[in-house]
Amino acid sequence: MTKKIAVLPGDGIGSEIIEQAVRVLKALDIPLEIEHAPVGGTAYDLHGHPLPPSTLKLAQESHAVLFGAVGDWKYDKLPREHRPEQAILGLRKSLGLFANLRPAILYPELANASSLKPEIVSGLDILILRELTGDIYFGTPRGIRTATDGPFAGSKEGFDTMRYAEPEIRRIAHLGFQAAQKRSRKLCSVDKANVLETSQLWRDTVIEVAKEYPDVALTHMYVDNAAMQLVRAPRDFDVIVTGNLFGDILSDEAAMLTGSIGMLPSASMNASGQGLYEPSHGSAPDIAGKGVANPLATILSAAMLLRYSLDHDAQAKRIEQAVQRVLQQGFRTADIYEAGMTKVGTAAMGDAVLKAL
Ligand code: NAI
Ligand code: MG
Repeated sequence: MTKKIAVLPGDGIGSEIIEQAVRVLKALDIPLEIEHAPVGGTAYDLHGHPLPPSTLKLAQESHAVLFGAVGDWKYDKLPREHRPEQAILGLRKSLGLFANLRPAILYPELANASSLKPEIVSGLDILILRELTGDIYFGTPRGIRTATDGPFAGSKEGFDTMRYAEPEIRRIAHLGFQAAQKRSRKLCSVDKANVLETSQLWRDTVIEVAKEYPDVALTHMYVDNAAMQLVRAPRDFDVIVTGNLFGDILSDEAAMLTGSIGMLPSASMNASGQGLYEPSHGSAPDIAGKGVANPLATILSAAMLLRYSLDHDAQAKRIEQAVQRVLQQGFRTADIYEAGMTKVGTAAMGDAVLKAL
């Protein structure tokens, strides 16, 4: 069956990097129906809205969305509902994307890019699953008020609510176990169950779900310890599943272990396997239009799309191996360049990946 993919290039370097990823997808011998639509500032310029109904409809009808990036300083003065970033929030909401998957991979060829010593981090390959729709970012009540009790009564106080419903924890736990099954069958659930009630429910629920995945080894870790272990012995992890707040922080920490923002893909998924795939970086307006952006994060996002939404694991591996191959051959865009390597632009990097495929 032909699978439909919505391609939304967006702003800045979006169209340049997306073009290379689309070339890679078209080079595979699988039937794909690929349709482009505007999003972000580009869509605002054309249709007066960052997520026009026609773009949203295309995304809803597709098996997966391949997304470039949105945003540019020239849209900073627009009211919030017309800002390019609203497009991504709108897509997450309307597609019900509740899980964010962020791999942190440090290719041995790029080990010098990390702030950690190569012997600690070279060959790192971990996956962080962050819950996206719950937790303290969305819990109510929240606000700023005058405290009525305690030692600071009469002063202003700010408050938020950390909140997770059991089904919300269960669905991300399932995705965590399923991702672990596609990798080395190790899942680490991160919480703060020694202090937080939300985390106690999180831990109990994950343990319950684990009964359905006897082939996966489940461990638990408190978030403060996880933050330490990620810089002490990051390769001890394989798949990490955690809530929105802890995942926000840990996934950025893990990304920085690799030192190369231009190399990191990401996915946001819903329960039916539909997903939005995009590089972890933004629209890089400082280098847009120059043909120098690194397309590998987007090409690797296309690989994730094949693995998680289209169930084409073998094709995903082919792309990942091709990327590894071009690094071995010494091809480098400016952001990952080191003396002695072959410096290439966006299109030439795409050429090299196609050749390696
Ligand atoms: P950014 O990730 O766009 O850029 C940060 C730095 O990394 C820049 O120096 C940029 O040149 C470089 N960089 C990023 N991607 C690169 C690539 N593929 N190859 C080579 N170098 C690369 O983050 P920044 O500057 O904070 O934000 C720029 C715009 O992107 C803003 O409007 C922001 O809102 C938006 N943004 C959008 C995201 C999305 O669409 N999901 C995510 C993050 C930021
Ligand atoms: Mg963050």
